[in-house]
Amino acid sequence: MSSRKPIRKAVFPVAGLGTRFLPATKAIPKELLPVVDRPLIQYAVDEAREAGIEQMIFVTGRGKTALVEHFDIAYELESTMGERGKDLSVLEPTRFTPGDLITVRQQVPLGLGHAIWCARAIVGDEPFAILLPDELMVGEPGCLAQMVEAYEQVGGNLISVLEVPREEVSSYGVIDPGASQGALTEVRGLVEKPPVDKAPSNKIISGRYILQPEVMRTLENQETGAGGEIQLTDAMAAMIGDQPFHAVTFAGRRFDCGSKTGFVEATLALALERDDMGADVRRIAERLLAQ
Ligand code: G1P
Repeated sequence: MSSRKPIRKAVFPVAGLGTRFLPATKAIPKELLPVVDRPLIQYAVDEAREAGIEQMIFVTGRGKTALVEHFDIAYELESTMGERGKDLSVLEPTRFTPGDLITVRQQVPLGLGHAIWCARAIVGDEPFAILLPDELMVGEPGCLAQMVEAYEQVGGNLISVLEVPREEVSSYGVIDPGASQGALTEVRGLVEKPPVDKAPSNKIISGRYILQPEVMRTLENQETGAGGEIQLTDAMAAMIGDQPFHAVTFAGRRFDCGSKTGFVEATLALALERDDMGADVRRIAERLLAQ
């Protein structure tokens, strides 16, 4: 057993407007768009639960109430299904004990760093995780579980990273990598959305974090950075040197569901793997590709 404080809380920034998916996201939060038959947010919540997270903190905004509805008990639905003898186990992952899902509102879209800071009172004085639901991570164990295991060894702050083609780095937070050992790489520096020729590597932050609570203090005074937003990456960069900082290369697959093509890729990949439909989807895909 490790003597480190366990990671019990996770923050999900879900206040974004989802403009890239309009008109689909006009009335529906983008985090509720389904990949096959599970909404994006459910994949992230399931990943957090698997990693031992007990309390989920959603940083939401106006028009995002349906996200909370999704994790509530739908009494009419359940009683009707029950009367008809239907299997309710499909709803199991949507269940929460009251108090284990908490929301806080980000009133104005000032950036990812600001969204995380909005959760400071609920996070309190303990290390916590962050999951960006746009990044769909598929692995066994899941990405956050792999990070929790690494955290038990090295403590401090951890981010998940993966390599992308160099010309894509400007869309992401990028690490300046130090020494590596297995899946762990020391982080010497971090820069948000650098121009390609200024990027310190092609290893990008892929949307999973384990951070010490001090980051909230840093965010408090964080000035705006890339895109005129308060950037989490800048606050993390300011902590390097004071606390251990490592990157974990995720052993698994990542789908960028913040983009339409990534979303289609995730849908196809996961549908092809399903026992109940994989063979049919393969036949359909082959037929479409032959046209
Ligand atoms: C955010 C982070 C960035 C990270 C990315 C992963 O950027 O700021 O460091 O690499 O998520 O998806 P955003 O996609 O919100 O612009």
